[in-house]
Amino acid sequence: MCGIVGYVGNQSVVDILLDGLEQLEYRGYDSAGVALQTPDKLDVYKAVGKLCNLREELKHHTDETRKAIMGIGHIRWATHGAPTVLNAHPHTCNCGNLVVVHNGIVENYKELRELLTAKGCVFKTQTDTEVVAHLIAQKYALSKDLTEAVRLAVKDLKGAYALCVMHKEEKNKLVGTKLNAPLLIGVGEKENFFASDVPAIIKHTKKAVYLEDGEIATLTKDTYSVIDSDGNVVEKKVEMLPWEPVALSKMGYKHFMLKEIHEQPDVIRNILTGKLHTPQDNVILNEVKLTREHLKNLNRIQIIACGTSLHAAMIGKYLIETLCGIAVDVEASSEYIYRRTVTDEHTLVIGVSQSGETADTLTAIKQAKAKGSHILIITNRPDSAMAREADSLVPVNAGIEVSVAATKSYIAQLVSFYLLAIYMAEIKESANEYLLLSLKTDLMILPQKIEQILSHKEEIQKCAKIYSGTKDFIYIARGINYPTALEGALKLKEISYINATGYPAGELKHGPIAMLDETMPVLSILMKGCVYEKLLSNSEEAKARNARMIALTNSEDEKLNDLFDFIIRVPDVQDLLSPILAIVPLQLLAYYIAEFLGKDVDQPRNLAKSVTVE
Ligand code: M6R
Repeated sequence: MCGIVGYVGNQSVVDILLDGLEQLEYRGYDSAGVALQTPDKLDVYKAVGKLCNLREELKHHTDETRKAIMGIGHIRWATHGAPTVLNAHPHTCNCGNLVVVHNGIVENYKELRELLTAKGCVFKTQTDTEVVAHLIAQKYALSKDLTEAVRLAVKDLKGAYALCVMHKEEKNKLVGTKLNAPLLIGVGEKENFFASDVPAIIKHTKKAVYLEDGEIATLTKDTYSVIDSDGNVVEKKVEMLPWEPVALSKMGYKHFMLKEIHEQPDVIRNILTGKLHTPQDNVILNEVKLTREHLKNLNRIQIIACGTSLHAAMIGKYLIETLCGIAVDVEASSEYIYRRTVTDEHTLVIGVSQSGETADTLTAIKQAKAKGSHILIITNRPDSAMAREADSLVPVNAGIEVSVAATKSYIAQLVSFYLLAIYMAEIKESANEYLLLSLKTDLMILPQKIEQILSHKEEIQKCAKIYSGTKDFIYIARGINYPTALEGALKLKEISYINATGYPAGELKHGPIAMLDETMPVLSILMKGCVYEKLLSNSEEAKARNARMIALTNSEDEKLNDLFDFIIRVPDVQDLLSPILAIVPLQLLAYYIAEFLGKDVDQPRNLAKSVTVE
């Protein structure tokens, strides 16, 4: 959940590190720091809060910092120790000659701290990372070789880490290593980089080397080399990154979130390209290796995910059960990994993750793989750790998503689930062919319908203005849109900090209805279909308790005008596809409410986009 950048080369080290960290700010933003190697010394600069504070701090030291020949930088999302200057990375050993930045959690740091204290190390911070600095410094005192010192030191670490290390005596050398946390090398011309993620380096190079767990990389200005944990040289493949720097710009939008919401029609078109040529054709998923035989032998499917991806998974369950007739369980990865699950070679396990690096989901996937299950990954990052564990892959092609609140990646995950469910139904011949034909036909025209919603945003802005003063918000829905209610509520709470909750509407009267009075907004996701009338009754029940009623609907039903204070309309769409349309106004509603409240939309407090710790 932290971001790392390392640079050795001829450009301005400070600028490269700060620009790189800015691109990684989605990973954490409660403090930041850099360590700079100049020809004669090693300096560390840190600041609490967002990266702009560190930028300001560095402006007071330009005479020194412009001499830097290499450096490492870090953006932090605090796990051990409050976000203070002292706890911000980089951390140093006692003599100050060695600096380290770290992403992950050293689980055995308490034992190591005791051992190192007994050996004379003095600890200044509350972080788990400081033990790493002392540990490597001790190994360096013996080996006088930074790569070897790192190789030996990490043998004592338990947990997860991506590390980048520099020593005052090794003026043209950066060393990095990783275990269960991402780290890649950016390969340039007379310059090399370390980074937690592609956006930090894409402006400078499209060539990357992905490190595997346990590998140790050494960078100089002109070379890079990789060894394994036993010290053997590893020949690594240089991959060409498919990213364009323009993806990282707001393109005139006030926030990345708004830009990403507007990209959704094109995201759907991109996903469908090559996978669905015409409604009459079968869905093509080249990287899914499930045969008819395999599907026949499946007892069940388990889908594991977190946050927004979990909501996509819930819709995936509805679709797969409806179209394929296979039992599907959906579970939060953090729960799945700490119980005995009934998972074996007859279970298909689907992991869903925008980032492909969420620690809980990655662990769950590895556990299921060890039990012999076929692993299918739905991810926006085909270059991620999760994708590398996959037997089958559905790349969701949403392009890079910068805003912490997931929007276009959610729509992309949904479309991926539609394609997957149809694909499996076609192999299994388990669904009515006219239903599949109509789903495929309507999927292809969804982008225009979303464009219609996006071109009438004023109504949603008006709604946002009316309800932005509320402290609580309830979303209700039934059937396939129950997860839409959860996702709408999650969007609102994560960027506006309003207490928003999604309920299956039938559950209202079993408790939550007690909260309703004339101050409580209740947004009913009232899409035409099998549960429309039922949800209408539930909405009446809420109205009878004086709640402030809002409808999100594709119905022209006259009765709605009396029942609801505010109506948000979306184009007509068949029931099964309605979640793809219904979520768009809810994303916009959350966005505009947060904007009215003056919140930091793209980087909400306490959150990070990639949750690489359990
Ligand atoms: O990268 P992942 O999809 O695995 O991330 C899972 C959640 O952390 C993520 O969806 C989170 O809930 C977002 N902030 C939602 O907007």
